[in-house]
Amino acid sequence: MTILGIETSCDETSVAILEGDEVRINLISSQHFHTLYGGVVPELSSRAHLEQIVPLTREALSKTNKTIDEIDAIAATAGPGLIGALLVGFTFAKHLAYSKKIPFIPVNHIEGHMFSGFLMDKKPEFPLLVLTVSGGHTLLTLAESFTKIKFLGTTIDDAAGEAFDKVAKMTGLGYPGGPKIQNAASKAIRKDVVFPIANLKQDYHFSFSGLKTSVLRYVQKNFNGEIIPEVEINEIAYGFQDAVVRALIKNVEKAIKNYKPASISLNGGVAANSVIRQAVVDIGNRFNIPVVIPSFEYCGDNAAMIAFRGASLIEAGEKFSIESEPFPSFSSKYLY
Ligand code: KG4
Ligand code: ZN
Repeated sequence: MTILGIETSCDETSVAILEGDEVRINLISSQHFHTLYGGVVPELSSRAHLEQIVPLTREALSKTNKTIDEIDAIAATAGPGLIGALLVGFTFAKHLAYSKKIPFIPVNHIEGHMFSGFLMDKKPEFPLLVLTVSGGHTLLTLAESFTKIKFLGTTIDDAAGEAFDKVAKMTGLGYPGGPKIQNAASKAIRKDVVFPIANLKQDYHFSFSGLKTSVLRYVQKNFNGEIIPEVEINEIAYGFQDAVVRALIKNVEKAIKNYKPASISLNGGVAANSVIRQAVVDIGNRFNIPVVIPSFEYCGDNAAMIAFRGASLIEAGEKFSIESEPFPSFSSKYLY
């Protein structure tokens, strides 16, 4: 089966072709101009998706020597995401599928991230403990299959990626925060700035807003509106990143002990962080459980994961209506 995947939920326009198990192509066009505004501007994002979607689809087909008639189904991100951005890829994909009389598969973006480990050569196994950390979501689940996913916990306030972006902003590192914090943290020398993590009553939930406030207080107390020297930014970045790692790993460890998963997968945009990747690999090693983390190309938003999620749903016998609509916030009928 050959599936065309389309992703336009935020600031990446992406088109992929998945043929059987093989990603034939995964084109990603990133809207770097949002850096100028310090964050994603929804209206500009939709316009950029509109400009990119047709040329990228043409490029994906021509680079794989395929015609649209060789595509068996089209999967597109239905949500969550920016509604104007979602509408571009979703409407394009839906109409293309309709005109070619092939199945259209609306895909949940977060489910796309959750199973992106399956794009790697070494496949994860069920029951799979899944830690999904992106700009808008932080979710811990136990997937028993592609369609039966036990909800364990989520963030009660900010997502981990959002916290990275906000801390980068308040320390003057700028946007996008994740890679900038990671880079600054790697240059820390003293490593003596320590931030506390939330101690939540609810099992497996996360909270990053208190951590963000601790960083803000530290900055206000020590620098009081002045420009923070680079060496100090590095120490703050290190302390913050270390606290995020501790918060994530604490729940992963608890879930490993309780559910004894066959494998563990870390995914989502924040999974590009090498310190978080290493921490998850280390905890897997400690409990002798294989860890599968997608390569960088499949951590951030990409259409290959959308195509794969579409394929997994078709394989599970799911049926979809061409009448479906995109949705801006997270909901999944496979979560229980
Ligand atoms: O999954 P994603 O590409 O988009 C959403 O679906 O939200 O995730 C984007 C998030 C941003 O918050 C970005 O700062 C974060 O992933 N991110 C990172 C790193 N690279 C991207 N966070 C920490 N370390 C990184 N190296
Ligand atoms: Zn994402």
